[in-house]
Amino acid sequence: MPNLPIVTRVRELQARADRERAAGRRIALVPTMGALHAGHLSLVAEARKHADSVWMSIFVNPTQFNDPKDFEGYPVDTARDLALAAEQGVDVVFCPTAEELYPEGAQTWVDVQGLTDCLCGASRPGHFRGVTTVVAKLLLAARPHVAVFGQKDFQQCAVIRRMVSDLGFGVEIVAAPTVREPDGLALSSRNVHLGPEARLQALSLVRALDAAEAAVARGETDRAGLLAKVRAEIDSAPLAALDYAELCDPDTLEPAPPQLAGASLLALAVEFSPDAPGRGGRVRLIDNRVLGPNPSAQ
Ligand code: PAJ
Repeated sequence: MPNLPIVTRVRELQARADRERAAGRRIALVPTMGALHAGHLSLVAEARKHADSVWMSIFVNPTQFNDPKDFEGYPVDTARDLALAAEQGVDVVFCPTAEELYPEGAQTWVDVQGLTDCLCGASRPGHFRGVTTVVAKLLLAARPHVAVFGQKDFQQCAVIRRMVSDLGFGVEIVAAPTVREPDGLALSSRNVHLGPEARLQALSLVRALDAAEAAVARGETDRAGLLAKVRAEIDSAPLAALDYAELCDPDTLEPAPPQLAGASLLALAVEFSPDAPGRGGRVRLIDNRVLGPNPSAQ
């Protein structure tokens, strides 16, 4: 690994941030949970456009996993991650321990209300409280000018923007487009858990988004009709169980009106059963697309 500094302590990262800032250099932070793929690396490339020094955090945050099995099974390959980060030109990697970020006796949580009531917030209780708490800690540790997140986690971006604005973090939040496999499946660290048949059926998410987009392009505006098309695509995949499919306002995440007016976010979460009994656990995938006029968010 050619000279990639790896910082594990908050105080050390803050001291580095202060030096960079004193030298007039801009810092961009790319928070990740590791298991890096081309989606994460695209965030590094985006970060580079906004800063002189690009920092990546790698921390599998226990407090955002509402399912302990999901946390235990989360893929970890730190050596590979560090090599990829170095290759992509990351300047500093922050790899704290859980004890470093959650010191013994810690009692403080950051909880955004409202925006977290729907979509993944509704089906994963406590998830966003874990995300906002850890992202707040990462921003306080790295003191970046910019932090870059992926639109694949659309609600996460919205919730983090809200937190940063409500608490006056003074950090610019940049959202980068979703990177996909050649067949359209959104890259995700969880894709490695899909067996070959589930991997094929995972394309039902892309077909569902495509079907809704094509219907909107033909002039369909009926929310229920569009969601029925989405459900039909997911139902056609026997290993897939729909967690939610919603059309909402891209800014407030409130449900879209019965007749869509303006841009609408179509957000999907689908759980895939293992290909065969005993072959791993269920895999939950999410994807989204902004439909209608001015889909600039994609
Ligand atoms: P993680 O799932 O590792 O994702 C890190 C970042 O990569 C997030 O901003 C996510 O939206 C982005 N990302 C994931 N898949 C992507 C894809 N296919 N294309 C583009 N970007 C993609 O999201 C988290 O970690 C955590 O919740 C975190 C913010 C680090 C807090 O723990």
